[in-house]
Amino acid sequence: MNILLLGITGQVGFELHRTLSPLGTITAPGRDELNLLNEQAVTNYLAVKKPDLIVNGAAWTAVDAAEVHQSEAWRLNAGLPEQLAAYTKANNARLVHYSSDYVYPGTGETPWQETNPTGPVSHYGKTKLNGDRAIEKSGADYLIFRSSWVYSARGNNFMKTMLRLAESKTELNIVADQIGAPTPARLIAQITTLAIHSKLETGLYHLAPEGETSWHGFAKEIFGLAGKNTKTYPIPTSDYPTPAKRPLNSRVDMSKLKNALNVELPHWQSQLALTLREYLET
Ligand SMILES: NC(=O)c1ccc[n+]([C@@H]2O[C@H](COP(=O)([O-])OP(=O)(O)OC[C@H]3O[C@@H](n4cnc5c(N)ncnc54)[C@H](OP(=O)(O)O)[C@@H]3O)[C@@H](O)[C@H]2O)c1
Repeated sequence: MNILLLGITGQVGFELHRTLSPLGTITAPGRDELNLLNEQAVTNYLAVKKPDLIVNGAAWTAVDAAEVHQSEAWRLNAGLPEQLAAYTKANNARLVHYSSDYVYPGTGETPWQETNPTGPVSHYGKTKLNGDRAIEKSGADYLIFRSSWVYSARGNNFMKTMLRLAESKTELNIVADQIGAPTPARLIAQITTLAIHSKLETGLYHLAPEGETSWHGFAKEIFGLAGKNTKTYPIPTSDYPTPAKRPLNSRVDMSKLKNALNVELPHWQSQLALTLREYLET
């Protein structure tokens, strides 16, 4: 199989490069080789490489900066998926794409199901939703994995920010009323690979570990496992204003994925222990 992997330098893309390798020959251009903001360059690249499978780990993921750089975020998160889906449909290929729980309005306390009404509260969420809709409408063979709170041993993420802050701070105030499940990029890559290999039926699937916590709970667990003495104090979102609004309820229900793939998903705490150990050992 001829696989085109986008976003190789990202958290999910890095892990995909490893897990996908038994499935085929991977072409993975970085930004220098293919700037995804350039629609014509993407068209030309697809025409030359002719992939059978596109795995799109690329995105505009800076949620606050998306409020300012609206057109770039729109191109990466909505225009690019639409373009990839059009190629996929026209060439009988398959597209794997990633989405975010930020497409939901964040109300209530019940985990979101794939069939629930969306209602993003940020520009980032709107761009991701439009990307998903474009793929769904395209008639292409696709898998969309909608995830939450992605982190890994590499890249910019909450786990690494907390460990960096612990070097200089003895106390930290951390938001405790946003609830979700921190999702390691490696788990996303592993499930993606299983899904492709087992020819998972086209559609949208939630993908996160079991269990739930707040950013405060996540930080406490990070510091506990890493042996840091930094004290943490829970605060409401209203005490930590950001340019982009965040949903309070980031819980996603993974029943559809678990049933379709016949897999169990690990708990977020065991996944954090693995990811943290990897980070501390490298
Ligand atoms: N991060 C989260 O908390 C989170 C939560 C839920 C869902 N997701 C979704 O999961 C997917 C993967 O996220 P991630 O955290 O792995 O993302 P990430 O670490 O921010 O990586 C994004 C990737 O996209 C590439 N990229 C961005 N603009 C580009 C451009 N103009 N040309 C070429 N490449 C470009 C980046 O390349 P450079 O290194 O050159 O910038 C990088 O490889 C995304 O669809 C995201 O929306 C993420």
